Amino acid sequence: MKRMVCRYLPATIIAAVALTTMAVGESPQEDVIRSTSSLPPGGLGAAIELGRELVHNTSRHPLTAAYVGAALNCTSCHLDDGTHPEAATFVGVAAAYPAWSPREGRVITLEDRVLNCFMRSENGVRPPNGGEASVAISAYITWLSEGAPIKMNPNRPLGPNAVKPLQIDPQPADPTRGADLYETHCAYCHAEDGAGSDDGPPVWGERSYNRGAGLSQNAKLASWLRVAMPLDDPTLTDREALDIAAYVNSHDRPGFVLEEHLGPLPEADVVD
Ligand code: HEC
Ligand code: HEC
Repeated sequence: MKRMVCRYLPATIIAAVALTTMAVGESPQEDVIRSTSSLPPGGLGAAIELGRELVHNTSRHPLTAAYVGAALNCTSCHLDDGTHPEAATFVGVAAAYPAWSPREGRVITLEDRVLNCFMRSENGVRPPNGGEASVAISAYITWLSEGAPIKMNPNRPLGPNAVKPLQIDPQPADPTRGADLYETHCAYCHAEDGAGSDDGPPVWGERSYNRGAGLSQNAKLASWLRVAMPLDDPTLTDREALDIAAYVNSHDRPGFVLEEHLGPLPEADVVD
């Protein structure tokens, strides 16, 4: 399926969605183009629109900026406003919740999952559960999941179209080879020092995701790179992606201590 480059179009015009109920390895069965004309009327439609705005401008929007520590928006990783079919898509995600979270040792809701990404991938703190930002983002993800059959995930907090794992053993990885590959394929957008440029956000250092984030694990970063980077030309092999991931994650980035990221939530609400 062709990559949808929604971020180059006014967001109010189109959100292109591959609504997939596919098993791993199959192609999407059904492509659904969702335009804002299919938004529900009234306050719900407005919340969905706000949610799309927040995932696109997370680090800048007044409702979310204070909860973000990294120079990253949700859509820095959930490409094309979460509609990219493979790069951590939001399509279908809502159908997997409530889901079991092994990390937290409890069942979590979609809102919990959204807020966890603020703490880890965004290196920030959790906005209030049930607050405007949290509800709007969850409404947007749920809208993108309409029509997907509900199938709560009893194993992991992940949707049916989650990034596919690598086909190779993640050990050992070769960060020295990764450095050469980074130089060739990545540095012109993300900079030699990983601090980012006008063409790509930081991939290590103080403004990057922290050590609690999924992408800080080499295997997860590699499986995402395989389908997402280089932007618009994701052609890395598993091995190349893994070596680059080992190089990227060998650099300094913010640490993760849960207590520093809980934000204004009652602590009893979060278990890790
Ligand atoms: C640095 C990259 C990055 C950023 C920024 C990021 N995420 Fe994620 N997110 C991921 C990855 C990677 C996964 C899949 C993690 C895994 O495989 O365990 C994920 C998973 C999720 C999931 C669960 C998906 C599923 O299939 O159940 C949700 C929901 C989510 N993110 C929402 C958000 C929201 C909302 C934001 C912004 C506040 C955000 N993420 C920011 C990388 C990121
Ligand atoms: C043409 C420019 C370009 C190239 C080349 C490129 N990226 Fe990106 N990358 C981006 C942009 C832009 C984003 C954010 C996507 C968005 O906002 O739509 C991004 C996002 C990312 C992210 C998630 C957000 C973050 O900064 O942590 C990672 C990790 C990443 N790229 C790593 C790489 C690696 C590794 C390579 C080389 C294999 C690479 N990129 C090549 C432009 C590029």
